Amino acid sequence: MKITDIPVMNDYIRMCADGWDQGWHERNGGNLTYRMRPEEVDQCRPFFKETPGDWVDMGVQADNLKGEYFLSTGSGKYFRNVPLAPQDNLCLLEIDGEGKRWRIVWGLEQGGRPTSEFPSHFLNHSVRKAATKGENRVIYHAHPANLIAMTYLLPLTARDFTRALWQSATECPVVFPGGVGVVPWMVPGGADIALATSKLMKEYDAAVWAHHGLFASGPDFDTTFGLMHTIEKAAQIYLLALSAGGGKLRQTIEDNDLRAIAKEFGVTLREEFLD
Ligand code: 13P
Ligand code: ZN
Repeated sequence: MKITDIPVMNDYIRMCADGWDQGWHERNGGNLTYRMRPEEVDQCRPFFKETPGDWVDMGVQADNLKGEYFLSTGSGKYFRNVPLAPQDNLCLLEIDGEGKRWRIVWGLEQGGRPTSEFPSHFLNHSVRKAATKGENRVIYHAHPANLIAMTYLLPLTARDFTRALWQSATECPVVFPGGVGVVPWMVPGGADIALATSKLMKEYDAAVWAHHGLFASGPDFDTTFGLMHTIEKAAQIYLLALSAGGGKLRQTIEDNDLRAIAKEFGVTLREEFLD
C-alpha cells in the first residue's frame, strides 16, 4: 500500500495531470489545494513524516481553518511532474491551533514549501467554507490562455466578464449563475492579493486575476475542474467569434434568453448583471 493508492490522493493527482493536459500549467504555473476530510487524514497518517516540518507563519489567519489538513502543490513545482513523483511535488500541510501557521507532515521530500499562493488559497478556503456551510473543499488556480487574453480586451469588472462569458456558451449561466469576480492586476503571491481575492470569493465561486489567470472553487475535484474548463472554453469561444468576425458579433444570447435558461434549469442569475 502506497499513499498514492488512497482515493483522495489519486483523484488529486489525476486533476493535476488533467490541468497539464489542457495546457493551463506552463512551467510551475498554477496551484491546487484540497481541504481534507478527517477520515482522509486518518488514511494518510501512517505515511506522515516521523518529524513534521517547522511551523511557518502565513501572514493571514482564519478561525474556521484551525487544525485543518490541506493537500497542496509545491511552490516552483511543475504540474507536469506531479504524477511521476507526487512525493517530491506535493505536500500535506497541518494548520496550527491558531489558524495562522502551517507545517509539512508529508511530501516535498527533496525540500521546498507549499505554493507561493497558499495565502490566497487559505483565505479562499476560509470564505468558501463559510459560504457553503463546509461543503467547499477545493481551490484551483490555473493560467488558461483565452481567459487571460480577455483581460486585455474587456473592462476589468465582474459585470463585463460575467456577461461576456454567459453569452459565449449556453451552459455558462447554468454552471456559474452567480457570475465571476475580477481582481485587477496585483503582485501575486502575498497577503494583499489573498485578501482582495477572498473578498470576492465571499460572493463568487470563481475570480479572474487580470493578466494572470483564474481561481476556481468547488466541493470536489470534478466540479472545480469543470468550472475552470467551462469558463476557459467560453473565453475561447468569445475570442474565436470576435477574431473571426473582425471584432464584431452579429448576434448573441440576449438577456431574456439568459432569463429563460435560468428559469428552465432552476438557477438564480445575478440580476444586477442583466439589462
Ligand atoms: P507556485 O509555483 O508558487 O505555485 O506559483 C505558481 C503561480 O501560478 C503563481 O501565481
Ligand atoms: Zn499564477
